[in-house]
Amino acid sequence: MTSATELVYPWHDVTTDGDDSKMILSKAEGIYAFDRDGNKLIDGPAGMWCVNVGHGRREMADAIANQVLALPYASPWYFGTDEANRLTERLTSYSPGDLNHVFYTTCGSTAVDSAIRFVFFYNNCRNLPDKKTIIARRGGYHGSTFLSATISGKSADKDLMDMAEGVVHHVSMPKPLDRPEGMSLDEFRDQLVDEFEQTILDLGPETVGGYIAEPILASGGVVVPPPGYNAAMHAVCRKYDVLYISDEVVTGFGRLGEMFASESVFDVVPDMITTAKGITSGYIPMGALFISNRLFEELREHRADATYFSNGFTYSGHPVAVAAAHTNLDIMERESLLAHVREVAPYFQQRLAELVELDCVVEARGEGLMACLQCSVNPANPDVDRDYAFAAEVDKIAQAKGLILRPFEDMCILSPPLIITTEQIDDLVGILHASLVEAHRRESVSDRRTPQT
Ligand SMILES: Cc1ncc(COP(=O)(O)O)c(C=O)c1O
Repeated sequence: MTSATELVYPWHDVTTDGDDSKMILSKAEGIYAFDRDGNKLIDGPAGMWCVNVGHGRREMADAIANQVLALPYASPWYFGTDEANRLTERLTSYSPGDLNHVFYTTCGSTAVDSAIRFVFFYNNCRNLPDKKTIIARRGGYHGSTFLSATISGKSADKDLMDMAEGVVHHVSMPKPLDRPEGMSLDEFRDQLVDEFEQTILDLGPETVGGYIAEPILASGGVVVPPPGYNAAMHAVCRKYDVLYISDEVVTGFGRLGEMFASESVFDVVPDMITTAKGITSGYIPMGALFISNRLFEELREHRADATYFSNGFTYSGHPVAVAAAHTNLDIMERESLLAHVREVAPYFQQRLAELVELDCVVEARGEGLMACLQCSVNPANPDVDRDYAFAAEVDKIAQAKGLILRPFEDMCILSPPLIITTEQIDDLVGILHASLVEAHRRESVSDRRTPQT
């Protein structure tokens, strides 16, 4: 019998009666979180890639509280607010190209959902009702609504879950580590781009409406594509009238040292950008979809009569979220957090790269303040189950030593708050190093005890 009450967490194991293994957090400050016993831990994933300005900012609390007292809610169907308009101006001063239309959502999934629905709507308005297939990548993660989960490419997330039929086609993940031996990065990029173009041709360009991609695959394991890949994929989209959606839910708002990474880092001016997380540093849920002026101009050319993009949320442009986003931007601007990330990120990556010296680290990769260590107990003889368990063990040991990681499959993923200092990076790497060594020693010991057949 299950107990009477149970909190159902994301990705909840329904065969267990409650998850007692979860650490219970009670407070947080700067880059640190504290568990209920007062133990201090470095918040390695910044919550969930989101607490960019760090925890415990009084200014954020004040802005949120003041807004609650002034105007806690305004229906976006019937009213606007000056602050939402001002936020739109502020955000679009950073967005690339002509991405000056902003639709506010409640999170990343609803931003992605809205982007996909916009592709469908846009092509219906253009009298191209067959141009709807979305191309996405295997290993990509785009959210947990029906549509965003459908287009996501992490197969384990789809087990026993129904997906929308006929919406998505997946192409390869651009993971340099998995390229055939002897293949250069340029050859690998060209192969991926050829595969993409051939997929569009096979499906028929008249049936392909959009392409969605994280500039760097985040949850899929901080997969940094080969140089020139994003720009080349964008060129293919242009060639076949396929809308390019850049999913910057993780990379937006500073993680790569830019407010938006699409153009500044990857030379791509997409048609749409999805964001969330860092837009309020996770203090209040919010997402935003940026859409290019060009698409709206085209819609106006096709539709003489009133035509509604009938997509919206009770909490679109929520006044409290808007206030949090303004203050988050104030902090980022005043403290020059983008410049800070550009300054400390090379050190962060270099210190993590040193861990490759350990026998159990196959690769250290990343860019800006997002990174991943791919691990294996025995790289010469990888064993999926054992390596996944190893990463989980590293996570457990690191927690006991004062570091929160994000274990995923055989990887340890890191994306600390953007305010992290070089001294704190040293602390983080020190704990990680000790945890890897200890987990590997335990594994090696258990290995010797296992009878060999
Ligand atoms: C790239 C990307 N897109 C979309 C999402 C979904 O965002 P949310 O969990 O806020 O709905 C995530 C969440 O991690 C993400 O990493």
